[in-house]
Amino acid sequence: MASNQITPNTRVFIGNSDPQTARRVSVAPMLDWTDRHCRYLHRLLSHRAMLYTEMVTTQALLHGDVARHLRFNAEEHPVALQLGGSEPDAMAACARLAQQWGYDEVNINCGCPSERVQRGAFGACLMQQASLVGDCVKAMQDAVGLALPVTVKHRIGINQSESYSFVRDFVGTVADAGCRIFIVHARNAWLQGLSPKENREVPPLRYAVAHQLKRDFPELTIVLNGGIHTNTQIAEQLQFVDGVMLGREAYHNPWLLSTWDAAFYGCASQEPSQASQLSREWVEEQMLAYMEREAATHGTHWYAIARHMLGLRHGLPGARAWRRVWSDHRLKGWPARAVMAHSRGATVTVPISAPIPARL
Ligand SMILES: Cc1cc2nc3c(=O)[nH]c(=O)nc-3n(C[C@H](O)[C@H](O)[C@H](O)COP(=O)(O)O)c2cc1C
Repeated sequence: MASNQITPNTRVFIGNSDPQTARRVSVAPMLDWTDRHCRYLHRLLSHRAMLYTEMVTTQALLHGDVARHLRFNAEEHPVALQLGGSEPDAMAACARLAQQWGYDEVNINCGCPSERVQRGAFGACLMQQASLVGDCVKAMQDAVGLALPVTVKHRIGINQSESYSFVRDFVGTVADAGCRIFIVHARNAWLQGLSPKENREVPPLRYAVAHQLKRDFPELTIVLNGGIHTNTQIAEQLQFVDGVMLGREAYHNPWLLSTWDAAFYGCASQEPSQASQLSREWVEEQMLAYMEREAATHGTHWYAIARHMLGLRHGLPGARAWRRVWSDHRLKGWPARAVMAHSRGATVTVPISAPIPARL
């Protein structure tokens, strides 16, 4: 698999999955987690699932280093850019950038409850301004046309209110503006008193609300998110909605992704030539090659990449020792290849003070 830095207008569907089909199963946008290195790992494991970037704010994109925020590997397709913002003109300008850089979808964050995001007047508090979200959708679609879907990720309510009509009207208004795809994190966002982490755990999950949305808006694509851990749960939810998005489970247990292509897309998973050999070792070797390419092309330290694969051996004997090697900051001066060799012997005692092998 060649690593390419994507350049504007390059579109390569390595995953052989068109974005609509890809939404059957997706990996959630997660700040500080689903960067391009993480998505590269996830794409090695599933060629089909839709992948989302971390949220990027319009501020950061319009006044910051665009390439730093938007660069991705050609292998990542289909990949969606998630935007944080609420100014229709700024959102339209960012959607245009998403299109120029070759993203397959642009998603509006209407689910993040953090205080910083609330101060910026976007994220979950936008659910109280459905017509403004509609204006953003319209401005973005006018900017990019229908070829690049503009989608919305939202909660099912704000604070303690369990009124179904609130989320139904939100979806109805935004759909009237032209949005066809909604990702429903099936719990409320409490705008005060909870940290973002608590806001992913404390408000109760109410999947029935997402199911009702699908019944009320059968023409829309409804993707359910929140608290899903297993393929059995994904399959159950797919009876009611069009897609399922996983966040934390996908990150902490990425090997789960290796079962998705066969389970949910009816195809042999991964590279045809590699299908029979897919193993955690193979994935680790691909990641090592990626680390070496990244170091050569962008000066990326292996540590910034390895942190995303620490869950690769989740549940296996020796996983903790293996993980400890790849996350040991004392090995930062070692070449990645030496760290990998070391990790493979790690079920035995790890001599951290060992000299760097002469030949790597
Ligand atoms: C570390 C972390 C960062 C997150 N960052 C974002 C984000 O940038 N945008 C967003 O819409 N949701 C974000 N989320 C929420 C997830 O996308 C997802 O909605 C949530 O974790 C529920 O799904 P899960 O139970 O499968 O993890 C984040 C979650 C985590 C754990």
